[in-house]
Amino acid sequence: MNDRRPDDMVRITTPELADAFIEEQVKLVKEQVGNKKVLLALSGGVDSSVVAALLIKAVGQQLVCVHVNHGLLRKGEPEQVIEVFRNQMKANLIYVDATDRFLDKLAGVSDPETKRKIIGGEFIEVFAEEARKLDGVEFLAQGTIWPDILESEKGIKAHHNAGGLPEDMKFELVEPVKILFKDEVRIVGKQLGLPDNMVYRQPFPGPGLGVRCPGAITRDRLEAVRESDAILREEFAKNGLAGKVWQYFTVVPDFKSTGIKDGKRAFEWSVIIRAVNTQDAMSATVENIPFDLMCHLVDRITHEVPGVNRVLYDFTPKPTGTIEFE
Ligand code: XMP
Repeated sequence: MNDRRPDDMVRITTPELADAFIEEQVKLVKEQVGNKKVLLALSGGVDSSVVAALLIKAVGQQLVCVHVNHGLLRKGEPEQVIEVFRNQMKANLIYVDATDRFLDKLAGVSDPETKRKIIGGEFIEVFAEEARKLDGVEFLAQGTIWPDILESEKGIKAHHNAGGLPEDMKFELVEPVKILFKDEVRIVGKQLGLPDNMVYRQPFPGPGLGVRCPGAITRDRLEAVRESDAILREEFAKNGLAGKVWQYFTVVPDFKSTGIKDGKRAFEWSVIIRAVNTQDAMSATVENIPFDLMCHLVDRITHEVPGVNRVLYDFTPKPTGTIEFE
């Protein structure tokens, strides 16, 4: 059961089934790990958070979580990881603020694929540096899920989880949710006591806000993306759209336009709002945001986000647009 998803496996659809799964995996992880240490890169996303909560239950302080803040996370995310895992679940959590390291490496880099490679490569480096500081770690836990395995078997995408660490760093893998689909992972996470806004969160790309700051990332545009995204999320939650719309975020492109603020000319950034619905992210339709809410969003973003004088709405479905801008 730990290696393959059996064809006749019952889908986890209820809290009771999730509890049974948790009990079984806790037993299996204890058998696999014994009294050794396990390392986990904890991003705060659904999969790694559920693995962390499961392993805390199974091996407690033998789990070492490393949360790397690459400076491209959404507002409040690193704080929530620290609050939930260190303060509430009493996890052994190492927090690394690597913001300057990432942003310095990304300075002046405008090609989207190069940006992605820098972010991915730097992430591995920071994580490996932290791992080298620890003694006696023999296991690496990962939030691999069943679709990751299916996609890499079909050659659709390389299964990124397992690769990447330097050759000399060899760990045995612990992948307790690898036979689960995403909806099952969420039910398990809820049963493990994770907050709803962690378990039912919208998808968020690995390169984070970096792909929502098209072209070369600058700190002022990055802050404008982070602040406008926080306003959008707050308003969607207040207006009952957070659980309904599949993915919604803001983008700040690298051009300025003329506007007026306090009676004076203001040459500032624009914020683009994107809100889409999809089944599988291969195609997507645009959400019909109520006009009054749109006006309220424009008002808040142009008055509360420094350096922004204009708000636009992206009406483009996928195709022809992809969901993200880069
Ligand atoms: P696109 O932009 O290709 O996005 O229509 C489809 C879905 O994938 C997410 N996405 C990513 N997720 N790393 C990720 O983990 C990435 O580099 C990445 N790029 C896009 C995107 O947010 C959307 O949900």
